[in-house]
Amino acid sequence: MRALAVLSLLCLFAASSCQSHDLVLGQTTYGDVLLYKINEYKYGFPFFVRTSIIEYPEPGRYNFAYIKAIHIKDNDHDGSGGYPSISAGGIGQRFAKIKLKSQRGGGFNFTVTVYGRY
Ligand SMILES: *[C@@H]1O[C@H](CO)[C@@H](O)[C@H](O)[C@H]1NC(C)=O
Repeated sequence: MRALAVLSLLCLFAASSCQSHDLVLGQTTYGDVLLYKINEYKYGFPFFVRTSIIEYPEPGRYNFAYIKAIHIKDNDHDGSGGYPSISAGGIGQRFAKIKLKSQRGGGFNFTVTVYGRY
């Protein structure tokens, strides 16, 4: 019984630590268009947490489309990559601010894609 509990805990840990940290929000439907796509990469530095803020639209630009979906793909498939989150805006709005955060000492490589509708 105890061994089983330990084993399932290990499995949980393995599943959460050895996977890419993709974030998929919203849904695209027919008629939605690609609004924005960017690849964001940062090297890891020992003891440091690296962060990036991705803003759509880019500062100084204007966007008229409503955001329908945001796909953030973690290109580090072994779980060593960073963690994405939305810090402002998002689905149903006309802007989004996305925060990418590495693990301590690690880097990240994300592809951010934003879909929407005019
Ligand atoms: C980031 O990931 C993409 C997609 O796998 C890859 O093409 C690109 O070379 C990577 N960038 C770096 C700097 O490793």
